[in-house]
Amino acid sequence: MKPKLLLLGHTGKLGQALNEAFCKSYAVTGLNRGDFDASAGDDRLIRRLDELKPAVIVNAVVFTGLDACEREPARALAVNTLFPKTLAGYAGRTGCVLVHISSEAVFPDAAAGQTFVESSAPRPINIYGFTKFGADCFVSSEAPCHYIVRLPMLFGETVQPTQFVEKMAARILAGEPELKVATDCWTTPSYTRDLAAAVCAMLVSKKPFGLYHLTNAGEVSLYDLISELVKILQRDVRVLPVAHAAFTSLAVKNLRPILASEKIPPLRPWPEALRAYGESLLKASAAPEVQPLPARLPTSLDEDLRAGNAVHPPATLARSDCGLGSAAGGLKKGRSP
Ligand SMILES: NC(=O)c1ccc[n+]([C@@H]2O[C@H](COP(=O)([O-])OP(=O)(O)OC[C@H]3O[C@@H](n4cnc5c(N)ncnc54)[C@H](OP(=O)(O)O)[C@@H]3O)[C@@H](O)[C@H]2O)c1
Repeated sequence: MKPKLLLLGHTGKLGQALNEAFCKSYAVTGLNRGDFDASAGDDRLIRRLDELKPAVIVNAVVFTGLDACEREPARALAVNTLFPKTLAGYAGRTGCVLVHISSEAVFPDAAAGQTFVESSAPRPINIYGFTKFGADCFVSSEAPCHYIVRLPMLFGETVQPTQFVEKMAARILAGEPELKVATDCWTTPSYTRDLAAAVCAMLVSKKPFGLYHLTNAGEVSLYDLISELVKILQRDVRVLPVAHAAFTSLAVKNLRPILASEKIPPLRPWPEALRAYGESLLKASAAPEVQPLPARLPTSLDEDLRAGNAVHPPATLARSDCGLGSAAGGLKKGRSP
């Protein structure tokens, strides 16, 4: 029998990829905002934990958006710090394994040639980074059996393109003639599917508990990243170089939070991973098949399969774009609006 794994935030960009990866080795139950509210000390989750008694909890829930976190710091603290603290307390009491997803945002900007490894001291420069670092502290102190996995900027298949690379991809595919992209922001862009497979392998191979930085190999400016994506998507789009200051922002942005690991080798180089992502987008955009998203999300994958009748406000989605009917063993849920 496969061990039980509770995946929190399974409908997010990373959560979808984790769901696909984990389903091969674990009996996965996925929960999201339709099931509990991570910002509100919601005891529905603890009840689910007590019922399910998972061997592993994976937390991919987040309140994201640098400016959104500056505007709503209490919510950012609740979802990004205090919710993981609750999970860490539960994992500490029960002995289950807690995998917590963290971020490059715990670091400031690296100097040219400098990288941040697991032993580098975090020094967040905005509310988002501060709340992510708070969770790292609580998870490492309260859950003895933990993996804290810090990730850089992600790209990957998602139901709603609300984050940078996916928004750019949607605009490129929609045929926008010009895109302005910053030349002075750098990252180690990484593919959700590669990261999810690596996190799953980490669990299955019983790597020592602790903190890991996980990335595809190589660093690049956002300008060069999007220029490469335009080539892969074969669209006639001009990418115009600008400074990040051309975009107004409430938060102080991380311009160069370059992650690396002193414990594990990087995954394949980012251009290869970006090509795989671009090809999956091209395939999805060529596929005529679209289907309505379910309107209400039942509480778990098991219940999805039993209920099979929930309906959400109308939205459409290419089947191959979000992995519906994938190795996850059937129906996967869409994002809440
Ligand atoms: N995206 C990046 O570039 C990036 C970079 C570095 C690290 N990370 C880390 O990767 C992890 C996943 O990020 P992501 O980009 O996949 O996030 P995402 O796409 O925004 O997904 C967030 C998930 O959290 C759930 N969620 C949000 N608020 C909730 C609440 N109050 N109660 C219950 N569930 C809630 C969402 O559920 P609904 O679907 O119901 O809304 C969704 O499943 C986070 O820890 C993030 O810090 C991301």
